Amino acid sequence: MNRAPIGIFDSGIGGLTVTRAIFERLPAEATIYFGDTARVPYGPKSPDTVRRYSMEIQDWLLGQGVKAIVVACNTSSAHALDDLRAASPVPVIGVIEPGASAATKATRGGVIGVIGTAGTIRSNAYAKAIHALLPAATVEQVPCPLLVPLVEEGWFDHEATRVIAAEYLDPLVRGGLDTLVLGCTHYPLLKPLLRRHLGPQVCLIDSAEETAKAVGARLAELDLTAPDDHVGYHRFVVSDDQARFLEVGGRFVGEKLRNVETVPLG
Ligand code: DGL
Repeated sequence: MNRAPIGIFDSGIGGLTVTRAIFERLPAEATIYFGDTARVPYGPKSPDTVRRYSMEIQDWLLGQGVKAIVVACNTSSAHALDDLRAASPVPVIGVIEPGASAATKATRGGVIGVIGTAGTIRSNAYAKAIHALLPAATVEQVPCPLLVPLVEEGWFDHEATRVIAAEYLDPLVRGGLDTLVLGCTHYPLLKPLLRRHLGPQVCLIDSAEETAKAVGARLAELDLTAPDDHVGYHRFVVSDDQARFLEVGGRFVGEKLRNVETVPLG
């Protein structure tokens, strides 16, 4: 048993999707969320820069006494997970393996689409993780960089978002996908819009829920779970612009998004 908080980080606001899933699945756990709002987006940045930013955040979280680290950012998971794990005395859980595993279980025809940032797609991390589990899968990947600023703007159900999403997704639809991995923290917020565009026959994989399950399993395995009667507190920390984080982030973690602190890194 361990009452220390779980550290969760992302390049900005999107990692709150993973945080919310952890709140729901592991209600006794305390959390510290770090959103690098000063340096978002990570998607177009080089692997070395993303690794450096991710290491800085991990060091800061370790300094807060976290018992585990969740890399909610897909781009960080794609570029930095191995280095983060090698440098951390506590377990580090990324989002790519849980999402890839869920996709291989969900697919019926073996045609899996993956959408993510330019960095995540270029790294091929999802395709590698899917092929490790299902070698016969056809994996079609499309970078969708414009969706991140639209979500950060709170345009979850806006006509502009619909037009841009259609432009990105239509080649995948023509390729006959049956499963789509939302390989970016921000995309689960567009689920209703994507669902309307793709129809019910395409299974949407939201790695947030899968990652929360993986976190629960890992904590239990290492005997790090908080006791059931523990009332976990939730801290939110950003590197810039609290007002926008509160406004947009509040829409998906509700009343828990209070007491936002600013810690500039780097
Ligand atoms: N958090 C990033 C991810 O999941 C998306 C936003 C960004 O580009 O930084 O890949």
